[in-house]
Amino acid sequence: MEQRRWLLLALALLLAIPVSEHFKVTSPEKVVGIVGQDTILPCTISSTKPLDNPQVHWIKITDGHTEDIYTYRHFGGEPMQKYLRRTSVPGDGFATGNVSLTLKNVQPADEGMYSCTVISRDWSTDTSTKLSIAGTGEVFIEIQGPQGQGLELGCRSQGWLLFPLGDSEK
Ligand SMILES: *[C@@H]1O[C@H](CO)[C@@H](O)[C@H](O)[C@H]1NC(C)=O
Repeated sequence: MEQRRWLLLALALLLAIPVSEHFKVTSPEKVVGIVGQDTILPCTISSTKPLDNPQVHWIKITDGHTEDIYTYRHFGGEPMQKYLRRTSVPGDGFATGNVSLTLKNVQPADEGMYSCTVISRDWSTDTSTKLSIAGTGEVFIEIQGPQGQGLELGCRSQGWLLFPLGDSEK
């Protein structure tokens, strides 16, 4: 009797594992965008069977406040008013699994946490990606002549530069 119970438990576990692996949503932890350029926030769905009535919600999270950006369903995508001409998701996203969000002409105000939330009838999950914005400034390197053993370089910067790549910002 005891043996049979263990057998059933083992069987249940074996059945449960593949079920939980049917769907997976992946996004990178960080993306760096450049002011004025288009940025892609990657999000991919991998599933072993077609999703039942799937939806993708791209959401921006700033200081605990959430903002809808783009909703994507089988019949198409729907950006929120504020993002009307700035965002897109590939039209065949559910077929290819690529539901990445393209954000056009990024600005410093776009910096923040973005969540790709995938919902289907019996399953849902989300990921989050931190978007940092780097500006383009002009940097001039001036050779100031030999000094001892080395060469002294002067560095002057115009415009502005942000350094979102370090660990200082988390
Ligand atoms: C997903 O779609 C975006 C936007 O169209 C594209 O730039 C990107 O290369 C695609 N990614 C993959 C893995 O196909």
